[in-house]
Amino acid sequence: MSQDKKIIAAEKAIEYVKNDMKIGLGTGSTADEFTKILSKKIIEGLDVICVPTSKKTEKLAIELSIPLSTLSELGSLDLTVDGTDEVDSNLSLIKGGGGALLREKIIAYNSKSLIIIADDSKKVKKLGDFKLPIEISKFEHSTINDKILLKLEEIGYFGESFIRKLNSKNFITDGGNLIYDFSIGSIEEPYMVNQIVNSIPGVIENGLFVDMADVVILGKKGDIEVIKR
Ligand code: A5P
Repeated sequence: MSQDKKIIAAEKAIEYVKNDMKIGLGTGSTADEFTKILSKKIIEGLDVICVPTSKKTEKLAIELSIPLSTLSELGSLDLTVDGTDEVDSNLSLIKGGGGALLREKIIAYNSKSLIIIADDSKKVKKLGDFKLPIEISKFEHSTINDKILLKLEEIGYFGESFIRKLNSKNFITDGGNLIYDFSIGSIEEPYMVNQIVNSIPGVIENGLFVDMADVVILGKKGDIEVIKR
């Protein structure tokens, strides 16, 4: 059922794709649906070139024979289509559940437009039920984590964090870094939290995407909601 909603959202996002576009390909189960639909359009004659936001998406795109390039070769992109873990009414997001937040943010920042596709369960009043992923350096990571908690406390956010594990080993991102997931309650000021966290040495990037999404497409049961900035 939830997969159907993801497919509905991905199908709607395809309507934004035009010939000759340079497109960022997101990461996750919803973005994968978009990538699959896009590959069918390419077989039918659509001419686009894409930049993946993770090794996982790159692998899928290669399997589907989608032409790939890099930001440095293409310059800015026309459009990126990606999923999200949470979206609020201001179109602020928490991303990084799949661990690809750094590349996702770089690609989104270098795209003229960011379209987010998700099932309607991702829409929230306030961000923060989903733990905020923060990608940090391996070097002295526990000290960096303590410093993040301290700085968050200074601005009124109290909570705890856990190093992300995969198969009982530390999860390693495509960039070779670690992720800590922060449970800090409702995030009332995503802009400030984003700024404070990213100012701490050792923080590579965090999962708050503020002022980035232009359109959010939510798949619902047999319906769709399109929210524009
Ligand atoms: C990947 O790091 C994430 O930002 C994903 O975009 C996010 O977790 C959404 O994934 P799903 O579409 O699988 O829910």
